[in-house]
Parts: sequence; C-alpha cells; structure tokens
Amino acid sequence: MTAKGKQILCIGLVCLDIINVVDTFPVEDTDTRCISQKWQRGGNASNSCTVLSLLGASCGFMGSLAPGRISDFITDDFRSRGVNISNIVCQRVGVNPCACCLVNITNGSRTVILSDMNLPNVTSEDFRKVDLSQYKWIHWEGRNASEQVAMIQQVVQYNANVSAEQRITISVEIEKTREELYQLFGHGDVVFVGKDVARHFGFNSASEAVKGFYSRVKPGAHLICAWAEEGADTMGPDGLFHSNAFPPKKLVDTLGAGDTFNAAVIFELHNGKSIQEALTFGCQIAGKKCGFQGYDGIV
Ligand code: ADP
Ligand code: FRU
Repeated sequence: MTAKGKQILCIGLVCLDIINVVDTFPVEDTDTRCISQKWQRGGNASNSCTVLSLLGASCGFMGSLAPGRISDFITDDFRSRGVNISNIVCQRVGVNPCACCLVNITNGSRTVILSDMNLPNVTSEDFRKVDLSQYKWIHWEGRNASEQVAMIQQVVQYNANVSAEQRITISVEIEKTREELYQLFGHGDVVFVGKDVARHFGFNSASEAVKGFYSRVKPGAHLICAWAEEGADTMGPDGLFHSNAFPPKKLVDTLGAGDTFNAAVIFELHNGKSIQEALTFGCQIAGKKCGFQGYDGIV
C-alpha cells in the first residue's frame, strides 16, 4: 500500500454522551428543564475520529465496548461516519462509559460528569492484532499509559524495519492530571498536553507550558498545548510557534473543542503541512466547532 492510502488510527475512549443543552447553568438541588437533550457518541479519541472523517481523512478507532444497546448506538454512529471499527475490542465484562454533559448555549461552556467504571482498556496484547501496515499515523489518548507505552514500542519496532515513507507517526494526548499519564511525554513524535495538566504544573499559558514541559519530550518531537480562547502554542526542533484562536460569532458548544483541535492538527501534519499551518488550522476548525452544536459543519 502506498503511504498516501493509509489510515489514521485513534486509540482511547468511546462513550455515550447524554447532552443537555441549557441557557442557564442550574443551581444545585433545583429541578429545571433543558432546551434539548440528545445522545451523541463521545470520548476524545472517538470525537477526533469524527472530525478526521469530516475533514476527509480515512481513519479508524480502537477502544473497548461492552455489548448492548449503547454499543449498538456507538457502532452505528461510527459506521455512519465511515470510521473503521475493525479494531474495537468487545469486552466480556464491564459497563460502557457514559457521560452526562451540560452545554450552556449562553456561553458555550461544557460541564461533564463521566462514569467510566470497570470496562477494561485495550491492552498491548490486543494491539498485537492490529495490522500496522494499514496505518500512517497512530494517536493515543492517554489512559492506561503503561500499556500504551508497550503499544508504542511495538510501533517503534515496526518503524525500525520499514522504509522511511512507510513509518508510522506517533502522537499522544496528555489531558488529565494523572501521574501515570506523564510517562507518555517521552513517547510521541507529536505530544498534545492539555491546559489542565499545564495549570496543575503551575504554567499560566500555552507558551509557558510548552517551554516548561519540553525537556520531557523526545528529541525532535513537537509539543503542543491548546488554551481555549488564547489559541495554541507549540515547541519543536524549529522553535516556538503560536496561533491565535478563531472565535465564532457566538460561543455555543465547546464540548470536544480539544478533540477537534487535535484531529485538525493531525490531519494537516499527516498531509505534509508545516507545524505553523497545522496549529493555525487546528485553531480555525476548533473555533468554528465552538459556534454550533456537535461536529457537523466544521467543513
Ligand atoms: P479542551 O476542549 O480540551 O478543553 P481547549 O479549551 O484548550 O480544549 O480548546 C482547544 C482549541 O479549541 C483551542 O486551541 C481553540 O482554538 C479552540 N477553542 C476552545 N474554546 C474556544 C473559545 N472560547 N473561543 C475560541 N476558540 C476556542
Ligand atoms: C469531550 C469528551 C466527551 C466525553 C468527555 C470524556 O472532550 O471526550 O465527549 O464525555 O470528554 O472525558
């Protein structure tokens, strides 16, 4: 297969998002009505697949599901988007993750309560079954990081035995403030670090964060940090770059803005664009997404 025909694989969470749209954030212990309520497939890696497919990339998702109605809803939705789900692992135990989301259309804020209880994550053993020759880029949303590092090592080994143009680019996302995830810094060619993690380490901006975390990434890697209405910054072998945000006329829904940003950046880099172009495109597409509900409409 030519490198051009290959897919992007995103590995991480898929869940059910039950989205309640409100125009005022509720007060605790009150009983209010929402403007609308809907089920949407969610999870960072899963949302990034939605965006990649809307952008026109051929992509696949790898993660866990437990059989049942939620799983049917999720797999139908992946299929309707043309996302390859041949690497989904159907678990025998555990409950599918589900998030109750409040999206406030007055300011676009999203408040999420995720139930992610006992569904096993995909393992490096599962990953052994993936036909790596199908992929040009693999993205890991940081979750069971030690296993994920073992998966990445399989890719590193694969890369060592193929020609330069067949090599797989590795990206990772470190979004949650969990110690286990920080080992991922050293394993991506492209590393996305979230602003919550940056703040946790005392950084007050994306540029402080990329400078501050840079010693943790491997030589030659690009470290990227998005920061809502401040845009995003990156540091890499060619230095520091910044993109301003592209705010929509009205902020409506920021749920999945970061996942949209990651997908758009990966899409551009995968297509051979420069890091500055990728960062700007990421902010443009993510900004556009914040102007409407869901993902349809980014292109
Ligand atoms: P997350 O959804 O992970 O919290 P961020 O809030 O950092 O992610 O947003 C990711 C990207 O989405 C930002 O770099 C920016 O381009 C865009 N974005 C998010 N919120 C806004 C906003 N309020 N105005 C404009 N752009 C935004
Ligand atoms: C958005 C999202 C939602 C999901 C939540 C999980 O980034 O992936 O779809 O409910 O985050 O943390």
